Amino acid sequence: MKVTDKVIVVTGGANGIGAALCRRFAREGAKGVVVADVDETLAKVVAEEINGAAFKCDVSREEDVKRLVRFTEEKYGWIDLFCSNAGIGVMGGVECPNDQWQRIWEVNVMSHVYVGRAIIPGMIKRGGGALMITSSAAGLLSQIGSAPYSVTKHAAVGLAENITITYGDQGIKVFALCPQAVRTAMAGPDGGVAAVDGLMEPEQLAEAVIDGLNKEEFLILPHPDVKTYMQRKTSDYDRWLQGMRRLQARFIAGGPLKK
Ligand SMILES: NC(=O)c1ccc[n+]([C@@H]2O[C@H](COP(=O)([O-])OP(=O)(O)OC[C@H]3O[C@@H](n4cnc5c(N)ncnc54)[C@H](O)[C@@H]3O)[C@@H](O)[C@H]2O)c1
Repeated sequence: MKVTDKVIVVTGGANGIGAALCRRFAREGAKGVVVADVDETLAKVVAEEINGAAFKCDVSREEDVKRLVRFTEEKYGWIDLFCSNAGIGVMGGVECPNDQWQRIWEVNVMSHVYVGRAIIPGMIKRGGGALMITSSAAGLLSQIGSAPYSVTKHAAVGLAENITITYGDQGIKVFALCPQAVRTAMAGPDGGVAAVDGLMEPEQLAEAVIDGLNKEEFLILPHPDVKTYMQRKTSDYDRWLQGMRRLQARFIAGGPLKK
């Protein structure tokens, strides 16, 4: 799909990947871009820069997501593409406290469920629409050092697959964006272990998204190596796991629980 003349919502649009997407969509001639974020001040800065609209919302609250959809439809008439991009990271393994597991589940998974509920019926009525869910390469492979991030990003890919299987024949296009490390606040200055193949600039990633949307393939992989890693994982799971243990040892000697 082309984004020119489209009405687009981007959650997590105030920073990092979301802000780069907002700017790139505006440059491509989108009809309207809604910059949605918990950080209203920065959302306004991005929106002003691109002549879009800012909206304060916490995507882990269903009522906020419903208000965001209503706001966009009242302002622009409809939504062509919803980029459900806001996400958070938590470091640690099974020892992470329950409240951290719960919070990341709500932000990285339930937000996409709320978005799907809020937009799919209207899109089907209008003859179609698109949803791009920002997962991660961690949702296809794993995130060394973070079980909650790996699990929730896998769940996001699972949800995206299920939505496209369920509603694809009714005109709902779904994209799963699965990058490796991108230079944002979340990745930190060096990107950590996710940057083993380098750190991509958000603007480069936005370019890959434009390309992926045009191609209309389910998976958008700004780092093409991720496809090779997926193939290795499915062709010999145990060998792939051994390789991941070796990678972990390079970054966290002795494993995350070593004192
Ligand atoms: N940076 C990377 O290396 C990388 C790699 C793969 C996937 N991702 C994913 O890309 C997405 C964007 O990450 P980023 O790197 O741009 O991070 P970022 O921290 O730079 O930006 C995230 C934005 O989301 C907003 N946000 C956080 N929680 C929110 C909530 N509950 N409701 C509304 N907004 C909220 C933040 O205020 C922030 O503006 C995330 O889903 C992340 O998991 C990032």
